[in-house]
Amino acid sequence: MQKILIINGPNLNLLGKREPSVYGNQDFDSFFNQLKTEFSEIELSYFQSNVEGEIINKLHEVGFSYDGIILNAGAYTHTSIAIADAIRGITTPVVEVHISNVFVREEYRHHSYLSEVCKGVIVGFGLDSYRLALESFLIDN
Ligand code: DQA
Repeated sequence: MQKILIINGPNLNLLGKREPSVYGNQDFDSFFNQLKTEFSEIELSYFQSNVEGEIINKLHEVGFSYDGIILNAGAYTHTSIAIADAIRGITTPVVEVHISNVFVREEYRHHSYLSEVCKGVIVGFGLDSYRLALESFLIDN
C-alpha cells in the first residue's frame, strides 16, 4: 500500500469558513474522510500547520519513507525558499496543489518557489485538486 501524506499550510484550517466564494463551503476534515473512503487502496494521512517551520519539520520527517506528499503550502508557496529547500532535500516526490486558480488572482500569487522542485502542480479545481493529485500517484504505479 502506498503511503501518502497531505500537508496543508497556513489558513487552510479555515476551509469551509474562509472566503467560501474562493475556497468553497466544505471543511477539510469532512473532505479528508471522503478521500479516505474513495482511495482505500492508499494509506492516507493528513497534517496541517500555520507555522512554516512545522511544515518543514514534517517534510523532513516523512520525506525519506513515504511514497508521496501532496502539499498545499498556502501563501508560503509564494514566499518560502525554506520550504522549497526542504523539498529539494528529501527523496519523496511532492505534488503541489492549489484549490483556487492562482493565475487568475493577484499577481503576487502567480509565482511559486515550490513548483520547480515539485513533481507536478495541480491548480484551480477546487478540492478536486487533491483528488487529481492522488490520482497522479496511482497512474505512476
Ligand atoms: C492557495 C492559494 C494561495 O495563493 C493562498 O495563499 C492560499 C490557498 C489555494 O489553495 O488556492 O492560502 O494555496
